[in-house]
Amino acid sequence: MGFSPIVTSRLILRAYEMRDRVRLVQNASNWRVAKNLGMMPYPYTQECADEWLAKQPGFWDSGTSVPLCIALDGEQIGGIGLDVRAHGQWELGYWLGEPYWNRGYASEAAFAVRDYAFETLNVERLVAGHYVDNHPSGRVLTKLGFRYTVEAMRPCLARGADVKCLEMTLPRSSWAEAVGRPSGSASTGYAWAS
Ligand SMILES: CC(C)(COP(=O)(O)OP(=O)(O)OC[C@H]1O[C@@H](n2cnc3c(N)ncnc32)[C@H](O)[C@@H]1OP(=O)(O)O)[C@@H](O)C(=O)NCCC(=O)NCCS
Repeated sequence: MGFSPIVTSRLILRAYEMRDRVRLVQNASNWRVAKNLGMMPYPYTQECADEWLAKQPGFWDSGTSVPLCIALDGEQIGGIGLDVRAHGQWELGYWLGEPYWNRGYASEAAFAVRDYAFETLNVERLVAGHYVDNHPSGRVLTKLGFRYTVEAMRPCLARGADVKCLEMTLPRSSWAEAVGRPSGSASTGYAWAS
């Protein structure tokens, strides 16, 4: 995989590396993080982190997943990713270690990945969702231009239950209007090569 990192004003969004294994556990082993994510195990052990890192080449090779480490000053502070859900439709997800909340980092990373999705992956539509009690994530997605669509029960691994989720969407046309670009696609395709 040859993904070119996305650089924002404070962050670097890059592929995960083996050196992230300890920071991953420090940041992810937190109920307040895991309870807001669909597939984050809880408790999050070193084995969980090592399994996640071992899966990375497969994710990239699939061409249907863009799993990125959010790094601040070179160190992992969270994760953000895109996954194919249907033709032309990708889902955006993200999380940060709790010490890094409420400093605008999730918004900064998500704006950059939103633009990467439309400009480089040439997606037609982004989708995302947050559990009904996760107001900060709703705020991040609303700032990105996402709008609410439906409510649905979605599984949460950490809670061991389905939780009410508010689904949101951002079509290409709305993104183009927001950023002042033509809505037609001008993609160069995937930004990595195997
Ligand atoms: C959701 C999460 C990623 C937000 O990260 P963050 O870096 O703190 O987010 P930002 O600072 O960029 O933005 C948070 C926004 O929510 C707002 N906010 C914070 N607490 C809030 C609350 N209780 N109710 C409403 N809005 C709230 C902040 O004011 C900010 O909005 P603003 O920019 O208009 O001021 C982080 O809390 C997290 O990792 N949570 C656990 C995992 C998770 O929920 N992932 C998302 C799954 S959908």
